[in-house]
Amino acid sequence: MEQKNEKRKTIVIGITGSIAAFKAEELVKELSADYDIEVILTQSGKKLIEVEKFQKLCPVRDCLFQPGMTYRDYLEREKIGHISLADKAGLILVAPATANLIGKIANGIADDLLTTTIMASKAKILIAPAMNNNMYTNPIMRENTGKLKKLGYFFIGPATGRLACNRHAVGRLSDTGDIAKKARVLLEEPLKNKSVLITAGSTIEPIDPVRHITNKSSGKMGYALAETAKAMGADVTLVIGPASIAKPGVKVIEVNTAQEMYDACMQNFAGKNLVICSAAVSDYKVLDESREKIKKENNATLKLELTKNPDILKEIGRRKTSSQKLVGFALETENLMENAVKKLKNKNCDMIIANSQEAINSENNKVFIITKNAVEELEEMPKSLLAAEILDRFR
Ligand code: CTP
Repeated sequence: MEQKNEKRKTIVIGITGSIAAFKAEELVKELSADYDIEVILTQSGKKLIEVEKFQKLCPVRDCLFQPGMTYRDYLEREKIGHISLADKAGLILVAPATANLIGKIANGIADDLLTTTIMASKAKILIAPAMNNNMYTNPIMRENTGKLKKLGYFFIGPATGRLACNRHAVGRLSDTGDIAKKARVLLEEPLKNKSVLITAGSTIEPIDPVRHITNKSSGKMGYALAETAKAMGADVTLVIGPASIAKPGVKVIEVNTAQEMYDACMQNFAGKNLVICSAAVSDYKVLDESREKIKKENNATLKLELTKNPDILKEIGRRKTSSQKLVGFALETENLMENAVKKLKNKNCDMIIANSQEAINSENNKVFIITKNAVEELEEMPKSLLAAEILDRFR
C-alpha cells in the first residue's frame, strides 16, 4: 500500500515476554514498508528476541530511562519518551501480548515504557495475545480482555493451534499477515464517515415468567462485525439479544424479544449506510404467554400456540433507500444455496452470507457470499477475518 505525498504514519509495536516474541520481526518487516515503526520491548520481551536484529530495522527502546540518562536528558533529548511516542503513534500494536501486559493495562498499571505509552496515548490500541491456553481461558484474563474490549481496545486472536507447551489449543499468536492486515485497517479506516447497524445474537420469546424459546447463537459473528466495522472507522450501532460475550465498545442496544429487536432496528436504521442482520431471530413467539409459571401436575402434554414474529430483514429490505446497503445471513440445514438465493431476492438484500449450522458457537466460519451477480465461496476463517472480508465490500 503506497502512501504518496503523505506523511507516513507511525506504528509503535510493543513486544512482550511471550514465546511468540520472535515472530514480531516479520511484523516489523511487513509494516515498515508503509509505516514508520518504533519498537518498545518489555524487560521479558527483551530476553526472548535478538535485539540487534530489530535495531537494524527500526528504533528500539526498552525502558523509560536509559542507564546514565539524567532527568534533563529525558525531558529535552527524549522529549519525554513515553509522551512523544504516545503522541506520535497512529496505532499501538502489542504483539505478542502476555497475560501480564493485558492485566496491567486493564487495571491501570503503568510501570514501564510500554504501559506508560499506552496509558498516555489517544491512538487506537491493537492487542494480539499469545500464551498458554489455561492462562488465556483463566477467568481473570477473560475479565481483563472483556473490560478492555468494552473500553474500545481492539484484539486479534489468539488462534487455536500448536502451542509452545506442545498442546493443540487456543493461545497461539494470530498469523502475522492477519495482524498486519488488521493494523492497516485500523490506520486507514476504510469505512470512515459510514454508519452501520448490526443485529446479533438470538432473541428469546417468553413462555411463562421462567421459561422461553430461543434460537442457537453465540452472537460471535455479529460481535466480530461490530468490532471490525468500528476498527474500519464506521459509526456502529449494535442491536443484540441476550448473549454472554463481552460487548464491543460501540453503541449497544440490548433487547430480549424479536419485537424489541424489530422496534430498535426500525428506530435506528434511517440514515445508516449499511445494515447487517446477523441475529438468529425467533421466527415465532408464544401466542398466549402465561402470566404464572405453568405447572406440570395437570398437564401430561402441553401445547404451545405460536404466532409469527415480524421479519426485521424483510422489513428493512422493503423500506431501504437505493443508497442503503442491506446484508442478511442464511443458515440452512439443507439446500443452502437455493434457499440463500431465494432470501436475497425475497428480502431485497444486496448480499446474503450463506453458512451452515457448524458456524454456531464456533470461532471460525465457512461461508458463501451471494450477490445478485455472483456467488463467491470463501475458505474457512476466524469470524473476525470474515467480518473484515464482508465489510471490505462496502468501502
Ligand atoms: N431475520 C430477521 N428477522 C426475522 C427472521 C430472520 O431479521 N424474524 C434475518 C436474520 O437475521 C437473517 C435472515 O433473516 O439475516 C435469515 O433468517 P432465517 O431465519 O434463516 O430465514 P427466514 O427468512 O426466517 O426463513 P426460514 O426460517 O424459513 O429459513
